Amino acid sequence: MSDKIKLAVLGSGKGSNLVSLAEACAAGMLPADIVLVASDVADAGILERAAGFGLSARFIEPGKFRTKLDETAEAAYVAALRESGAEWVALAGFMRILKGDFLRAFEKKVVNIHPSLLPAFPGLEAWKQAHDYGVKATGCTVHMVDHGIDTGSILAQGVVPVLEDDTAATLHQRIQQEEHTLYPRTLARLFNGEIRV
Ligand code: GAR
Repeated sequence: MSDKIKLAVLGSGKGSNLVSLAEACAAGMLPADIVLVASDVADAGILERAAGFGLSARFIEPGKFRTKLDETAEAAYVAALRESGAEWVALAGFMRILKGDFLRAFEKKVVNIHPSLLPAFPGLEAWKQAHDYGVKATGCTVHMVDHGIDTGSILAQGVVPVLEDDTAATLHQRIQQEEHTLYPRTLARLFNGEIRV
């Protein structure tokens, strides 16, 4: 039996972080098998990217709210993840807040990547918040997910300088490049026991 971690990835967007995680798994750098990729957006790029890697990919109805999963949806996500055998959950651009039941089902096993140096600029479009504020450096944070919004323990951060001629979009591109090395590397350290939660 494989001693790799069974990992589920949840995302709502284009899936560039999923690609970096899948490539790191394939290269043997991240000791994990991605057992399920799930999205709350039926036509999200992440599902297509997942299928391209031959991974199991599913749209799961998010329910009636805009920013969180409703109770039925949360139960459906938990059931799908359980069925997949997932031990850990990596959020990769999943744009809904996860609440009690989900976090209880995967207690201290849910990790997120956020495009700023937390605790600065939690919430939406963090790169734009940083750009508009005029900070000279920002970056990305890998953190545990708790009941707050972008408040869980910080596992690792990558710093990205803001350049004179940056737009919010060019800044976001460079933050994403940093994410693509930081996220797989941090998960590898976590699963290898080099980071204690
Ligand atoms: C990433 O930049 C991630 O940090 C951000 O969504 C993007 C997803 O891109 N997440 C958040 O803003 C969460 N608050 P991707 O679909 O290309 O991986």
